[in-house]
Amino acid sequence: MTKRNGGIKRIGILTGGGDCPGLNAVIRGVAKPAHDHGLSVIGILDGFEGLVEGRAKELYNKDVSGILARGGTILGSSNKGDPFHWPEEDHNGDIKIVDRSKAAVKNYMGWNLDCVIAIGGDGTMHISNKLAQMGMNIVGVPKTIDNDIDATDQTFGHDSAVYVVTEAIDRLHTTASSHHRVMVIEVMGRYTGWIALHGGLAGGADIILIPEIPFSWDAVYDKVVERNMMGKRFSIVCVAEGAIPLGGEMVIKKTDKKRTDPIQLGGIGKLVADKIDENTKLETRYTVLGHLQRGGSPTPYDRILSTKFGTSAIELAMKKKFGRMVALKGMEISSVKIEDAIAKQKLVKKNDQAVRAAAAVGMSFGTKDL
Ligand code: F6P
Repeated sequence: MTKRNGGIKRIGILTGGGDCPGLNAVIRGVAKPAHDHGLSVIGILDGFEGLVEGRAKELYNKDVSGILARGGTILGSSNKGDPFHWPEEDHNGDIKIVDRSKAAVKNYMGWNLDCVIAIGGDGTMHISNKLAQMGMNIVGVPKTIDNDIDATDQTFGHDSAVYVVTEAIDRLHTTASSHHRVMVIEVMGRYTGWIALHGGLAGGADIILIPEIPFSWDAVYDKVVERNMMGKRFSIVCVAEGAIPLGGEMVIKKTDKKRTDPIQLGGIGKLVADKIDENTKLETRYTVLGHLQRGGSPTPYDRILSTKFGTSAIELAMKKKFGRMVALKGMEISSVKIEDAIAKQKLVKKNDQAVRAAAAVGMSFGTKDL
């Protein structure tokens, strides 16, 4: 029996950008109620790449059963498939950027979709906003371990990444204290410091370095030396990949024109470790946590948030409230216009409670101002 579904019959789901734990839980949260309401659901493969290239598959109930706890995405994802900024390689291997948005809209029409649920970060929401302006019905779901979307109190995936960072710092603590070393851990987060802040706070790091609070080298050296003189013969430094030394710049690993964001960050952990080792004569090692932060099973918090997001997204679609993104506000899921959601990146403020709490328990942000 078909239940009330607002007259929509067929929806597509895609997962765009970097993967993270909880994507499958959202897919399940969308597809199960959709099936229950008599809708057919297609999974668009590899994010916007599949939308442009016409790659999709029907998603049946059996496909979305048993995936709640599974990391990654059963649909595949890509951070290279921006339809408006599509990288095309010519026979010389040169990359030309072309606009393939019309192909995306054509496939949407060809598949007879009434709506696409686009699960992704700010890149995905920017693309969704432009496709919505071309007439596609889209509902967004905010994903990213970075937690940098301002319109939602939290993105799903962040808690799982913070869990991995916390566990890693716990492990670094024991070896750091045995060998009386300084341990630097470089974590992800792109241009924001949420992962380093929350992971560092939960793991009890001694120094947290984030892009929003440029750090002074001297303040970092002073902190580890001071700890050493107090008999605390080890220190943990949690550094966000986008952290910036005062008067310096973010450390870029490489750039790739094919990516939606061409910049790939990386390398600040090694730099911080080398400088501490050289300038304090304290033995220092570094670890780059990398994609471990994006892999594996979602935490219970992320499973719950993802399920709430997914089920709220399909509700919005069935109410034909298109062009909106689901968002967490306090304890409730609400929604915002996608165009408003992309207006602002969520940055760590100096007076954020987590920053104040970290400073109050003696953690340093590499500045004398806190
Ligand atoms: O946005 C998520 C994220 O993991 C960032 O924290 C990181 O900078 C980036 O993606 C890494 O992307 P890739 O997996 O393409 O190297």
